[in-house]
Amino acid sequence: MLDSEVARARKPTYEVNPLILNRWSPRSFSGEELTDKELFTLFEAARWAPSSYNNQPWRFIYAKRNSKDWDALFNLLVDFNKQWCANASALVVIISKKTFDYNGKPSVTQQFDTGAAWENLAIQATSQGLSTHGMQGFDYEKARKDLGVPDEYDVVAMAVIGKKGAKEKLSAELQQREVPSDRKPLSEIVMEGKFGNKAGIP
Ligand SMILES: Cc1cc2nc3c(=O)[nH]c(=O)nc-3n(C[C@H](O)[C@H](O)[C@H](O)COP(=O)(O)O)c2cc1C
Repeated sequence: MLDSEVARARKPTYEVNPLILNRWSPRSFSGEELTDKELFTLFEAARWAPSSYNNQPWRFIYAKRNSKDWDALFNLLVDFNKQWCANASALVVIISKKTFDYNGKPSVTQQFDTGAAWENLAIQATSQGLSTHGMQGFDYEKARKDLGVPDEYDVVAMAVIGKKGAKEKLSAELQQREVPSDRKPLSEIVMEGKFGNKAGIP
């Protein structure tokens, strides 16, 4: 079933699985701790994503709130993200192996594959009553250096995981943005046969 705030804000052209629409990226988190079981179930979901040659390029470096590693990940964030991430339950740095295990050659689709794993994680989180929020607002080079990421991996993104908190805890500006977002119409993103062609959307 669609969450009520999602039902108000998101009007799909076609009916899709409610989990897909119920996943959105809030900025208000409750600060509650996640159990290891909750957290590792998310990585388990990520693990089952498809990838070219089943190379599974995704890797996840996490820090739980109040753990010894939290500050190292939190300090990578730009100030804008720091202001709302302070109440997250876990931070994750998502990295991706650039080459295939089987021949050492570059994989063209590795970031695509890792993106699929991230979406699995996010959808699984939604199904567990958790929220996630992807981030590119952090220092990529500092992440590589501080977390010891080898050259053969790309630093792709960060993400926040937690339980959604009261919107009122956010600044007035962020409260205004705390709503499930809309999407471009199908007619803008799907083309039949050739770039620029209209799709035969019924
Ligand atoms: C890779 C990636 C990077 C993002 N970076 C940031 C960020 O640094 N800060 C932020 O507040 N939101 C960030 N977002 C959240 C997007 O703005 C959000 O996913 C988008 O507006 C769609 O909204 P929804 O996730 O609620 O459906 C990021 C999302 C993704 C997937």
